[in-house]
Amino acid sequence: MIVAPSILSADFSRLGEEIKKVAEAGADWIHIDVMDGNFVPNITIGSCVVRSIRKDIDLPFDVHLMIEKPEKHFMYFVDAGADFITVHVEATKSLYRLVKEIGKHCKVGVALNPATPLCSIENIIDEIDLLLIMTVEPGFGGQKFIENMVKKVEKAKEMIGRRKIYLSVDGGINDKNAPLLKKAGANVLVAGSYIFCSKSYEEAIKKLKI
Ligand code: DX5
Ligand code: ZN
Repeated sequence: MIVAPSILSADFSRLGEEIKKVAEAGADWIHIDVMDGNFVPNITIGSCVVRSIRKDIDLPFDVHLMIEKPEKHFMYFVDAGADFITVHVEATKSLYRLVKEIGKHCKVGVALNPATPLCSIENIIDEIDLLLIMTVEPGFGGQKFIENMVKKVEKAKEMIGRRKIYLSVDGGINDKNAPLLKKAGANVLVAGSYIFCSKSYEEAIKKLKI
């Protein structure tokens, strides 16, 4: 199981330190939530921040773009050092072209909001490295996990079949739902508040890996 702490719940006044701390505590990837105030209500991190934190950390950067017109902006994040760039299917009109473009520069993921069906990626599944199933409505950390999404993860696993695609879940992940999601086929857990609001990052990450 890959655990990717979402830095959205970190203390931004000590961001560098926080990232080093989760890395030392056993994080596999660092998940970076980029929000533009349009696709989702919140505004968060831009590519300058990604470039700065890249200097001190070797772990893969999993950049989750929750922005309108990702085709206009993704290259800034490639240049800033992203290893994975995930775009929302709801945010673009030309998903196939976008996925092919991103794939020329780094690993490429697609994300589905809770209400978006899996059939929306049926025709591009052979082009992606990662499928992200949102288990909350994107926009904020600390929301409640939508139980129904476990079934969606099961179906996604079936759809992926033998392809080498990471199956990631994001939103409200904790030690209670992690085993259910693992059973359903998820192999990447993105967790923000569960890790960053815990007393011991190491304990929290260990519990998610069970
Ligand atoms: C939600 C973001 C998530 C979020 C996860 O819009 O994509 O990555 O930060 O935070 P928790 O784990 O607190 O739900
Ligand atoms: Zn995210």
